[in-house]
Formats: sequence, structure tokens, C-alpha cells
Amino acid sequence: MKGIILSGGTATRLFPLTATTSKQLLPVYNRQMIFYPLNTLIKAGIKDILIIVAPEHSGQYLNLLGSIFKKYSINIYFEVQKLPRGLAEAFILGEAFIDKDPVTMILGDNIFEKDFAEEIKNFKSGGLIFAKKVPDPERFGVVKFDENNKAIQIVEKPKDWISDYAIPGLYVYDNRVIGAAKQVRPSDRGEIEITELHNFYLQSGELMVSTFDGEWLDAGTFDTLLEAGNIVRDKKIYENFDPIINQAIEEFNAELKALAKKRLS
Ligand code: TTP
Repeated sequence: MKGIILSGGTATRLFPLTATTSKQLLPVYNRQMIFYPLNTLIKAGIKDILIIVAPEHSGQYLNLLGSIFKKYSINIYFEVQKLPRGLAEAFILGEAFIDKDPVTMILGDNIFEKDFAEEIKNFKSGGLIFAKKVPDPERFGVVKFDENNKAIQIVEKPKDWISDYAIPGLYVYDNRVIGAAKQVRPSDRGEIEITELHNFYLQSGELMVSTFDGEWLDAGTFDTLLEAGNIVRDKKIYENFDPIINQAIEEFNAELKALAKKRLS
């Protein structure tokens, strides 16, 4: 299983915070936001992780994540997305990296309380996505279930209500996703929509949609960014970090301290 974190975008809703850095490098309590999706992948035992970033922030990502996981045999790769052309582009930009393997893609601004390790490790083929009841489904890709809890319809940001179940930014697909992504034409808003990939698997009866418990935070606005930090602190979600992440950060901090000392001497 390969892992991709899609961490580009323009983050216009967070201007001017994101005029100087990437949204996913902003703090959520005691860690940069990107450590949360990284944690989801590392906890699932994924060793090869591609981080897709916007060109103007690539140096900052390299400085933070370029070498801290090396000694833990977790390989971090980087790819630049020149323009935010849509979530499905991750699989086109990641084609050579994914190679012949299945892939788990997570959005860089999605934070989960739940650990998805078991679901990701047990994945065999087709597609696996998740669903959570929300009060404002019109903001998300939405899935409708039939009376047997089988997914029957998926729509991106539906204008007319079809269901309260939103699809969060965590997607597991088999290798056919690369070919499927290449077929997707831009939508009216000019993006290659990931919803089309869900529908590719739904139409062939190979899409699993699983509901889940626990917090799902997407830290894309001032309020949700602040709320995410508060929830991570209050519910002690920061205690869920894999020991590898905590150790790697401790070592990174020690290195920074040593360098600061040298500069001062
Ligand atoms: P969004 O929150 O939809 O977009 P954004 O981050 O650019 O913010 P805004 O709406 O305020 O302008 O994106 C969700 C996540 O996906 C986020 O982590 C950025 C990432 N993303 C990309 O990396 N590339 C893309 O082409 C798109 C559409 C999103």
C-alpha cells in the first residue's frame, strides 16, 4: 500500500495566514497540521508516502519532513502540483510513485480521531471510502444509502438534499484509480472531482462505504482551524500520535536546539 497526502491548494479562506505558508503547515495545537494525516498513514503501516504540495511551499515541506523519518524506514517523496486542479489529480501526479500498488490518499487538512489502520490493512481491491453524518452536507461530496446501508448514489456538493452523509478526505483505491483519474473531465468549477472516481467504483459494485465514530475535523476556515486545535487539546487527540512520529519530532527539535546553540556561540 502506498500513501499520498494531498497538501497543495490555495487556502483562500485562510488569507492572510496562508500568504506566508501552506495551510497544512499551520499549527493545530502542538503539531503542524500535516502530522495528523501523516499519522493516519503511518499508523496503517504505510512506508512510502508521497506529499503533493504547491510550488511556493515546497521548500518549507522539505525542511520539515525531508529527512526526519529516514531512520524509521519511512520514505517521504515530494511532488509539486502547479495549480489546484482537483483532488483526483493526486493519482495522475502520483502515477510513477503508485506504480502497481493500491493507494491510500488523505487530504492534508483532514484530522481524524479514529485510527483507520485495520480498515486500510485489510483492503483488498476496489475502492474504500468513509462517511459521516454532518449538519451541512451541501459543502461536501455526499453519499446516499439504501435501507440495507448499501451506497447507491454519490454527488459532489448537492444543491438538493440527498443525504446527511458527507465523505471525508480519506480514500483507499486499487491500482485502477490511475486510469480512472485520467478519464475524468473537469467539472463546472474546473476541477477533476474525486466524486467521479467514487462513482467509477460504485457503478461496478466495487465501492465500500464505511461509517465511522470519532471526530472528523477539516481545518480550512478560521473557526474550524481554531476549533480543531481546541478539540485536539481537550479530547487529547495528540496522544494518538504513533511513537515514530513523536520520536522523529523529538529528534528534530533536539537538532534545531543544537543548531540554535551553535548560532549563538
Ligand atoms: P480545499 O479546502 O477545497 O481548498 P483549499 O485548501 O485551496 O482552500 P480554500 O477553499 O480556502 O481556497 O482543499 C481541500 C484539501 O485538498 C486541502 O488540504 C488542499 C488540498 N487540495 C490540493 O492539494 N489540490 C487541489 O487541487 C485541491 C482542489 C485541493
